[in-house]
Amino acid sequence: MCGIVGYIGYKEAFPVLMNGLRRLEYRGYDSAGCALISQDGKLNVYKAKGKVADLEQEALGQDVSGTLGMSHTRWATHGEPSAVNAHPHISQSGRLALVHNGIIENYVSIRESLIKKGYEFKSETDTEVLVQLIEYIKNTYRTSLLKAVRIALTKVIGAYAIVVVDQDHPHEMVAARKSSPLVIGIGEENKEFFLASDATPIMEYTRKVVYVNDEEVVLMKRGEEIKIVNLANDNVNPEIQQIEADMGVVEKDGYPHFMLKEIFSQPDCVRECMRGRILAKEKRIVLSAIVNHKELLVNASRIIIVACGTSWHAGLIGKQLIEQMCRIPVDVEYASEFRYRNPVINKGDVVIAISQSGETADTLAAIGLARSMGATVFGIVNAVGSSIARATDTGTYIHVGPEIGVASTKAFTGQVTVLTLFALALGREKGTLSREEYEEIVAELYQIPDKMQKVLESASHIEELSKPYTYVRNFIYLGRGFNYPVALEGALKLKEISYIHAEGYPAAEMKHGPIALIDSEMPVVCIALHHQLYQKVLSNIQEVKARNGKIIALVTEGDDTVSKIADSVITIPATLSCLSPLLSCIPLQLLAYYVAVRRGLNVDQPRNLAKSVTVE
Ligand code: G6P
Repeated sequence: MCGIVGYIGYKEAFPVLMNGLRRLEYRGYDSAGCALISQDGKLNVYKAKGKVADLEQEALGQDVSGTLGMSHTRWATHGEPSAVNAHPHISQSGRLALVHNGIIENYVSIRESLIKKGYEFKSETDTEVLVQLIEYIKNTYRTSLLKAVRIALTKVIGAYAIVVVDQDHPHEMVAARKSSPLVIGIGEENKEFFLASDATPIMEYTRKVVYVNDEEVVLMKRGEEIKIVNLANDNVNPEIQQIEADMGVVEKDGYPHFMLKEIFSQPDCVRECMRGRILAKEKRIVLSAIVNHKELLVNASRIIIVACGTSWHAGLIGKQLIEQMCRIPVDVEYASEFRYRNPVINKGDVVIAISQSGETADTLAAIGLARSMGATVFGIVNAVGSSIARATDTGTYIHVGPEIGVASTKAFTGQVTVLTLFALALGREKGTLSREEYEEIVAELYQIPDKMQKVLESASHIEELSKPYTYVRNFIYLGRGFNYPVALEGALKLKEISYIHAEGYPAAEMKHGPIALIDSEMPVVCIALHHQLYQKVLSNIQEVKARNGKIIALVTEGDDTVSKIADSVITIPATLSCLSPLLSCIPLQLLAYYVAVRRGLNVDQPRNLAKSVTVE
């Protein structure tokens, strides 16, 4: 989704901005722009539809000088992707420029009142009202930029992360946030400030950051301490934090795409996720969040999982794990539905929020609602220091490193790993899981990264078998039990990156509808592992076969029944049913990847999708 990069300091800003935008490309966008205040004090703005490279082309040969600037990648909400609708937006006088992430919900009424005052609008965006409103307040009340921004934001309903620059004040930059993330990097001795929608573009310059909180407005001036006020104009002390992240993780490391690198990194990521949490020798799990909130979790009468997209699929697996091991009823909700449904939350309910980015607007709002109704919220998050990590009462990071490919892969296996650790540790605390079962599962979980490695060895086989399916129009994915959510996730991966329509279904439900779609043109991916439902899935496969469907079967090593019926077979090592999603999801990720690559698509940045969905 939209990305912001800003810089004020002593270096030339343009390279910092372009470099930063490229680091944010993974978020998904359709146009880009930048504004700089040049050496001779002029505000220069460049915008282009398309990619950051198109913006650089647009700015080629133009004046891009200046040590203060901001830039933006836009993911269209109000108005089509175009240079006019791209940010920065410029005020009536041409002296103020603004970039914005989020949505201004009351933009229509603000726009109408400004039109009555003689303001003219060039774009179809909601954002343009902000820059005009700030200019109107600044001129009418003859205030500083900081004050004008603060007052303007008290009139606004919606979500925003904004940066504003003023040609008349070439030594300062003002930023603010509500519900849309914004991080400020503090460079050398306050001589320079970096600013971005997440820490990725900042990390190569400084590790000292301030996470801007909701309804805070920040003033950055060269050589001065950063100043933060809230919308009521109280001073806020900036909390400077040190971020630790390895820049290497945001490089492709020789892989053609981030997505492939991330698929292949899963054994290491899961090891990292379990590090210090599985005490292998003692066959024991230690999760500090459970230790610290033991009473509350052991006595939870119900757990509600809220999430979106792939994280929601991880939640469906979490439900089965927690119900099986802890005997606590679990509801899994789309955060976007939960937040507007006036849900029933009783005393003793615990909410688990799952999010890779930690910034998904609907999940963040669901957390706010749950907490306002008295629930304790446990977060399962990847992005350290993100809004969701900070908005939850407690939680566990999945620690799989930045995920750059828009289609989530390693974050999914990280989330499922944490949910497994959670269910095991809580089940043992509650006594609903016997010591023998617990130790058996812990020991097997410890082996999972090695087994994932074995699954990855079949990548070239999957690449080969996927060839005939490159140009089909539909796919069906079937699974049962723990592998029903994997079928949903496999279908989602294919949709996201190959644009082929795909449906995931619980295998037995196929006969209640999707079976009508099956003919010799329809590939059906069947997850048929050696678990208690194997025989049932086998019958479902026969039903597909009887209608000439093309069967791609995912089976356990040594299988000789399904393998004889299927058109193509992928084998995975034997494991426990409850841990099988950690292995079975990998071939489906690879299948989607190879189909999309052969279709010549942009695997890491699929059309219309965003990595961090900061609008509802
Ligand atoms: C977007 C991403 C998905 C992700 C979903 C939820 O749609 O493209 O990959 O699963 O958001 O994101 P979260 O960061 O909350 O897990």
